[in-house]
Amino acid sequence: MSTPYYTDPEKNFSLPSVGSRTQPPEQSGRISARRSLSDFSSWIPKYSWRTVFCLLVFAYYLGFFTIRTVLSFKSPHKYDVQTSQNSFSEKMQKLWGPYAPYYPVGEYVPPPLECKINQVNILQRHGARYPALLDVPVYRNAVEKLTSAKKFKGANMHFLKDYKYTLGEDDLLPLGASQSWEAGWHAYERYRGLVGGEDDLFIRASDLPRVVDSAGNWTRGFAAASQKSIRPVTDDVLSEEVNNTLNNDCPNADDGSAQMDTWLQQFAPPIVARLNAAARGANIDMKDVYGLMSMCPFESIVKAGSGLSALDAQSPFCDLFSEDEWRAFEYHEDVKKYYKTGPGNTLGPVQGVGYTNELLARLTDSPVRDHTTHNATRPFPLGRAMYVDFSHENAMVATYAAIGLFDAGVGGAPDPHRMPPEEEERVWVASHMVPFSARMVTERLECMSGAQEAVDAVREGTFIRIWVNDALQPLRFCGANEDGICALDAFVDSQGYARRDSDGDFERCYT
Ligand SMILES: *[C@@H]1O[C@H](CO)[C@@H](O)[C@H](O)[C@H]1NC(C)=O
Ligand SMILES: *[C@@H]1O[C@H](CO)[C@@H](O)[C@H](O)[C@H]1NC(C)=O
Ligand SMILES: *[C@@H]1O[C@H](CO)[C@@H](O)[C@H](O)[C@H]1NC(C)=O
Repeated sequence: MSTPYYTDPEKNFSLPSVGSRTQPPEQSGRISARRSLSDFSSWIPKYSWRTVFCLLVFAYYLGFFTIRTVLSFKSPHKYDVQTSQNSFSEKMQKLWGPYAPYYPVGEYVPPPLECKINQVNILQRHGARYPALLDVPVYRNAVEKLTSAKKFKGANMHFLKDYKYTLGEDDLLPLGASQSWEAGWHAYERYRGLVGGEDDLFIRASDLPRVVDSAGNWTRGFAAASQKSIRPVTDDVLSEEVNNTLNNDCPNADDGSAQMDTWLQQFAPPIVARLNAAARGANIDMKDVYGLMSMCPFESIVKAGSGLSALDAQSPFCDLFSEDEWRAFEYHEDVKKYYKTGPGNTLGPVQGVGYTNELLARLTDSPVRDHTTHNATRPFPLGRAMYVDFSHENAMVATYAAIGLFDAGVGGAPDPHRMPPEEEERVWVASHMVPFSARMVTERLECMSGAQEAVDAVREGTFIRIWVNDALQPLRFCGANEDGICALDAFVDSQGYARRDSDGDFERCYT
């Protein structure tokens, strides 16, 4: 077991000294926040000349690391100016599917002038964690098989000579704590106008330690951003031993492994052959390939929390595979999520119905109507301005599917036999949907066509829009146009599957 490393983000990251509460502290250093250069220069006037000098020295080193980073991954992304030396390249991370640390997928914009946000619902995945307990044997076994070889061919395999598997399991990592903290900070910054005190928030977490710890760190980040004027707490922790709207559970549902195996059989054989040729006697099989590839994201996110720079934190397992192979790994994760709790599974979306019905209750300020997983004995206040729920990726994918987000459309379902060509725009991309610390944010808007600032506006009444990881969701199913805004009534009408308690799918989970 590696030594669990944790430092309090508030102590670890120095807060910007004066009056610059509009940006989070530079904890992003460890979490890959990329800031555009213009953003960066707008900071300068707020600081003294000494600080400017320090920044210049920092910039010099930054340039050095940027060049090294650019050389190691040729990312086509125009935002790939790394402002922090220990962030992985965006391109590399994205290929890690649900094991990607959080990164914003789009750019948040405030609502149009005639609309004001009056309620926010955040459904948030826990932050980066160690490998899940159930997956540990797969990873460990693959590593042990590979390292059992007597000789290794190739410089990229050199590290295997005396490599030992040392990753922990299940718990939140320091990186996950920082990203949760930062999410809390951002939530305050974005929605500060909505919250005057603790009673304006209601926060729940599913009861696994990593989820509860994510909630705790989020509340601390939120409090820090408010300069401790608001100190939210986790109001309710929901047991995973019973039906729980923040955790997926459907004993009769498939887990997507048939489709995953199909895809593995398409891309893994050449890798099996290559590794067995380079590490004679290791007897690597296809399942081991998946285990070894998983070591790259996990070892990297573990090391990223221990203060190493990105290039040092990046696991040597990453270099055992080509970029095309990483694309195949990413696709494996897309396939997994689609057929596990996504629309590719007849009993997938049902696992997101409970949260969806709770969301409808909050949006309409009326008691929950759900006969799936909502537990009526738990506290469930209405009329709050901000609701925050901490959950898991599979429950979130199920919720997206229940609501109708990321609808790949006819012919757009991930085909486990064939990966679409790189140029093709894909709707169903796991790293866009459920990276670590992922968040789905449903904003309720009150709009007034008579608003002075917006004389042309025609909108009046209650509306919603949904963001997933800062990407605006199109919501065409309830009549939204480019701005993603739907009338609340139309949204409620569009949620028939949830409102009908899943048309009997919930019962099918058990009988
Ligand atoms: C933040 O997360 C860490 C785990 O990385 C945990 O030990 C700590 O208790 C959490 N903090 C709070 C306030 O929950
Ligand atoms: C509701 O939650 C309580 C507390 O966790 C639990 O004891 C009870 O069994 C749950 N009810 C149902 C119907 O799951
Ligand atoms: C969830 O609810 C179903 C249907 O009422 C029940 O059969 C099942 O045992 C419950 N699951 C848990 C974990 O309590």
